[in-house]
Amino acid sequence: MRFAIGCDHAGLSLKATLAERLQQRGHTVQDLGTDGPASCDYADFAEAVARAVSQGQADQGLLVCGTGIGMSIAANKVPGVRAAVLSDTFSARSTRQHNDANVLCLGERVVGAGLALDILDAWLDASFEGGRHQRRVDKITALEASASRSHE
Ligand code: RB5
Repeated sequence: MRFAIGCDHAGLSLKATLAERLQQRGHTVQDLGTDGPASCDYADFAEAVARAVSQGQADQGLLVCGTGIGMSIAANKVPGVRAAVLSDTFSARSTRQHNDANVLCLGERVVGAGLALDILDAWLDASFEGGRHQRRVDKITALEASASRSHE
């Protein structure tokens, strides 16, 4: 798969660790920044990664900040993005199987590198189950469409 990845200053080290794992597992990685330790705004990188997924330039996204929360809130504003902030492997597997989540968000200040790698592996090893879950995801998509119409 093609992954777009991003982080803020608080997620720089974990992003590098996870990018290496993605490449080891045969995925392509497009790193949309940030590239250094200078303080920056997570929403900028969430937007870049979310738009890459939404526009089909990437199949999935990976975002890391201090908690993963700011990244997930921002990424979920982009149509077609289903971002999940994760801190356990059960949820990582389940959100791929049930929600067809397409952007994985992690907090470098929350999970250690070992757990983050396990979460990434669980995410990569799972796939969307469709069926009743497709109906539910379709309702999320419809909600998104109606919310954007009500803003017109
Ligand atoms: C940066 O200090 C921190 O606020 C950010 O990385 C993230 O945790 C926000 O959700």
